[in-house]
Amino acid sequence: MLVYEKNSLAEEIEELVKTYGNERPSLLPILEAIQSKYNYISDFAQQEIAQHLAIHPVEVYSVISFYSFLHAEPKGRNIVRLCQTISCDLAGKSKVAEAIQKELGIRFGETTRDRRITLEYTNCLGMCDCGPAMIVNDAVYTHLDPQRAIKILSEIK
Ligand code: FES
Repeated sequence: MLVYEKNSLAEEIEELVKTYGNERPSLLPILEAIQSKYNYISDFAQQEIAQHLAIHPVEVYSVISFYSFLHAEPKGRNIVRLCQTISCDLAGKSKVAEAIQKELGIRFGETTRDRRITLEYTNCLGMCDCGPAMIVNDAVYTHLDPQRAIKILSEIK
């Protein structure tokens, strides 16, 4: 996460509005640009964007909530999502989940203090016959057991 001054963020948003326009369809590209740079879209950014596009901040927040790649809170540099759907559950997801939480010292829905990893559950990744499965950023891992999951996490920078 970058530390930034509100003034420079306000200027950046102004530039983005110049690039994409100040109509409602510009909302998503502007949010994507802010997300990509800061890793989340702060309350301040949401309000600035809403003001430029003449829409309510709640509308900005609802778009952020709808898309899983947009975040209103700071997340870790890496997002680890463990499948919680039934096939992976039956294949031993709970043991993997327990081991991961213990190893990282956080629970699902939380981020490590060093912001290295955010841990989340996800629904079916389409790898049901190879469970338990998890996705680390864009990479899918299957046939997990606690040891393998911990090894994978230890290799994440
Ligand atoms: S149930 Fe986990 S990948 Fe489908």
